[in-house]
Amino acid sequence: MKKIGIIGAMQIEIDLVLEKMVVFEESRIAGFPFYTGLLNEKEIVLTLCGVGKVNSAACTQILIDKFNINYIINTGIAGSLNEEVGISDIVISTDVTHHDVRKAQMKNLFPFQETFIASEELRNLAIKVCEFKNLKYHTGRIVSGECFVEDNMIKGNLVKDYSPACVEMEGSSVGHVSFINDIPFLILRCISDNADENASEAYTDFEEFAGNQSASVVFEMIKII
Ligand code: ADE
Repeated sequence: MKKIGIIGAMQIEIDLVLEKMVVFEESRIAGFPFYTGLLNEKEIVLTLCGVGKVNSAACTQILIDKFNINYIINTGIAGSLNEEVGISDIVISTDVTHHDVRKAQMKNLFPFQETFIASEELRNLAIKVCEFKNLKYHTGRIVSGECFVEDNMIKGNLVKDYSPACVEMEGSSVGHVSFINDIPFLILRCISDNADENASEAYTDFEEFAGNQSASVVFEMIKII
């Protein structure tokens, strides 16, 4: 049976999955909790990586090395970088990249990729679930960096440089580590804010709803994977 690794950065991003899974074992490596068990009769390993790209990179490598997972899904919340993408909408990654690393460095030095392409199989599953649940969703690029974006000028530059659907702080490193290990991955986000001057306020209002909404899509995906 395929084993699926599920990563969330914050407790509110994994709670729904944790509540629904049957946990056989809980272990702790490098400070990260790993919950091994079943969700919808599928083998999963759920983990909480903390905020930021270093945490999510380390946690992804542990999932691969110690738990032998076959797929990685990163679930959570994000700020919109596209007028069409509204608060509470779902974003399904086509590809991901670091917005705080120069494109030339990405392309010319290892890993020789400007972006990391998400699994088409996982993407199609997420689309199927969103259509079944009648959720408004978008497929597109997700960019990640070491800052919470709450500034229209920074937002404008990200839009100009990357044409992304949304921004967050972990997906690109999950994608990067998955890519160098040849593991299919998907980054799934629900929008909590518009990455503008009102972002902190909107984030506070919507983080819990958005975290659960994204996790509920993962829950349904696991049923049909
Ligand atoms: N996660 C949710 N909203 C975000 C934002 N505006 N910037 C970075 N990460 C986020």
